[in-house]
Amino acid sequence: MNQLNEKIVLPGRETLELSIGLDEAHTVKHWSLRGIGDLEFLKELSSYRKTTVNTIDDFLIPQGTSVFALMIKELILKTRGQWNHPFDEEILCNCRGIPFQTVDRAIMVGAHTPEEVSAQTSASTSCGTCRVHVENIINYRLKK
Ligand code: FES
Repeated sequence: MNQLNEKIVLPGRETLELSIGLDEAHTVKHWSLRGIGDLEFLKELSSYRKTTVNTIDDFLIPQGTSVFALMIKELILKTRGQWNHPFDEEILCNCRGIPFQTVDRAIMVGAHTPEEVSAQTSASTSCGTCRVHVENIINYRLKK
């Protein structure tokens, strides 16, 4: 039995944890999805738990851009080994000293344009060279 566990914690907000048990033939023998969040988040979580799966490929990636949809998408792609986030440095905006995690979290919870990210985090509000990274992260997080 191979056990896969992935968890995302948005500090002070949602938490989502996916656990999958696979047998030698890569068949899903059991899985669980646990989370903490607001009512809408929990409704989406409850609905997703009704998914019928036999293999990891059967886990559906929601098309929406809700916090739940973005979190489950990341968890599923990580369990499949397909998570290729376009930015992997600690500081995203050197002018303002804004960490990547701050920008990524803002995008996860609703800043879906570079302008919204700038308003919420101050990233890309000086020289602008980091804007392309912000755009890349938005595109990666929100693409179908
Ligand atoms: S590096 Fe982000 S505004 Fe200059």
